[in-house]
Amino acid sequence: MKSKFLNVVLLALPFLIVGCGESKTVIQAAVTKTEETRQITKNSTSLTVYKSATCGCCQKWIDHVEETGIKVNIEHPDDLSALKDRLNIGKQYRSCHTGVTENGYVFEGHIPARYIQQFLNNPPADAIGLSVPGMPVGSPGMEFKEKFMPYQIHLLKKDGTSELFALVDDPSQQ
Ligand code: CU
Ligand code: CU
Repeated sequence: MKSKFLNVVLLALPFLIVGCGESKTVIQAAVTKTEETRQITKNSTSLTVYKSATCGCCQKWIDHVEETGIKVNIEHPDDLSALKDRLNIGKQYRSCHTGVTENGYVFEGHIPARYIQQFLNNPPADAIGLSVPGMPVGSPGMEFKEKFMPYQIHLLKKDGTSELFALVDDPSQQ
């Protein structure tokens, strides 16, 4: 009788610990979220996103960005590549959509919103923005099952060159 009771306690214990850990994580996440929101309010970021009217992944990326508090205004220009030429985005850095801030910084492709904020909090003097070339599977707006393809975020320079801004090799970094 006694050992049966012990078994029940021992079985229940891991669940209690997991339960505690989970609620702690939720509280921490809530705190982080508030801090992020404060940052975003401070920057009051808004983006004009240029995309094709029929692109689904662009809209999904816009949803991701808006969830973080960034305001988005959508445009469907006739000639996207002419626009990218004007914005000085080299062909090797291009993707489906282009976000532009009021200050003229460009965010090309499926960049996670947190890196946009990171850039805008402290923009390097010689930079025009960021780019995730192509459309890596698993990046925001490019979700496909559980698949994830590591990708680089490029820092685009005024002179047309680029530097590595971040390597995203795990979905948790997005
Ligand atoms: Cu896309
Ligand atoms: Cu797109």
